[in-house]
Order: sequence, then C-alpha cells, then structure tokens
Amino acid sequence: MPSVWEYRQSDDLYADAAEFAVRLLSVFPEASIGVATGDTQIGLYDRLAAVFGEGRVSFRKAAFYNLDEYVGLDKDDPNSYHAYMRRHFFDRVDAAPERCFMPDGSGPDPEASARRYAKTLAAPRDIQFLGIGANGHIGFNEPAGSLTLGAHVTALSARTRRAALRHFGKLDRVPRSAITMGVGDIFSSRSMVLLAVGEEKAEAVARSVSGSVTTRCPASFLQLHPNAAILVDGPAGRLVPEALKRRADGRVLGDLR
Ligand code: F6R
Repeated sequence: MPSVWEYRQSDDLYADAAEFAVRLLSVFPEASIGVATGDTQIGLYDRLAAVFGEGRVSFRKAAFYNLDEYVGLDKDDPNSYHAYMRRHFFDRVDAAPERCFMPDGSGPDPEASARRYAKTLAAPRDIQFLGIGANGHIGFNEPAGSLTLGAHVTALSARTRRAALRHFGKLDRVPRSAITMGVGDIFSSRSMVLLAVGEEKAEAVARSVSGSVTTRCPASFLQLHPNAAILVDGPAGRLVPEALKRRADGRVLGDLR
C-alpha cells in the first residue's frame, strides 16, 4: 500500500518531494528520474531550483525522462511540455540537455515517435514523480477498459481536455492526443512519489488508495507498488480514510527507501 502523507502547508509538501530527489542524487548523481508536468509540479521545480541555487545539489549527471507530450504542438509552443520543462526546470538548473528525454509530439508521425521513446525508456527509473488527473489518470494513461504498458499515442479524454482549457483558452486549441509513457514504464520505477494538491483531486486520490485496483482509475495501481508515497495537502486528502493517512511532520523521507 502506498503511504498517504498529508501536509498542512503545500510548501512543506514540495520541500519533502524535492528532498527525495536531492538525497537520491547525493548518493547516486547518475540517477534516472521520471518527471511530470502540470500545475502541481511547478512548486516542486521551484523548490529544486532553489536548492540548486543554494549549491546543495547538481543535476548534471542525472537523466530525466518526461511522462508525456502533446501531439501536434511545436516544441517551442508555450503550451508544449518541452517549453514547460525548459521554463520551470531545465533552464534553471545544470541538467545536461543530452540527458533530458521527452517524447516528441511535433513531427508528422507520432506513432513512430512513441516507438522511439519506448526504446529510450528500456531501463527503469530510480524515482518517478507523478501528478494525478481529476479522473485518476497518471501520465496520460486515461481511465479505460485496459491500459497500455509501453509508450504510446493516446486520445485525451474530454475531462482532461477541459482541464487543459485554462492554458489553451479555447477547447478547439487543446490537443486531442498525446504521447505518454505506459503504465508498465511508470510502475517499473524503483520508487514513486505522487503529488496531489487541491479539492479537485480529492475524489481521485481517495479512489486511488482505498478503492479497488482498476483500469478505470489508473492511479489505483499505486496500491500494488512496493515503494510509493502519495503526498497530499488537506483538500486533496480530504476523502482518504483517516486510517490510511499519516501527518507528514517531517517523517516522510524515512518511509521511502
Ligand atoms: C503531466 C501528467 C499529468 C498531470 C495531471 C495533473 O505530465 O502526466 O498526469 O500530472 O494531469 O495535472 P495538474 O497538476 O495540472 O492538475
């Protein structure tokens, strides 16, 4: 079962999440880190950039693997995840560009691009950071009758596209598909840290940790991972049964090996 750690302040949540990576890199600078995009992760990247600024960590030898990218956006489009990663993280730290891997959704053949990314993902990550969609998606593995193990092109659900409206302004500008790591790629990581902030995630978080394991809520597979932590603020953790929750109080890091 994943541990669900609840934080009063989201700043503390981000500080602990960053510390997972910082501690790993202090003993293993070449670590392979799966990274996510989305509004929730911005606090993590702000914190990692701050720790880098203090000289406490270097990302130079690490390898980064992004979960996903929209199909049909140029890499320089501000809404692309390539641009997001440069803006929020890669350009603020000393990450080596040749060790930052992302699927390329901009070309004429997204299927071929997904196959290329699948090859890049052959070795498992040491740590995988995740967000969660309000529908329980991880990466862009949307609720479905079955899930795909490897990197693939996927249609975005209506709910996911509506959630992206805040960035694109108009629904017809929101991409209809994306390239995403598959659930096999995600769950092969040695450890997982899922971050969820805000009331809109409460139902998905509760279904992920206390309901049955189901492809209708892809994040529920975290229940099968031996080394997963879910970090939530009060609103996101509101529907999680008290018995499954722990108050963070600075004890989180000891829990994840
Ligand atoms: C993004 C990703 C998605 C997001 C999720 C939450 O790389 O994989 O699963 O983590 O949609 O997004 P926010 O944080 O914007 O609510």
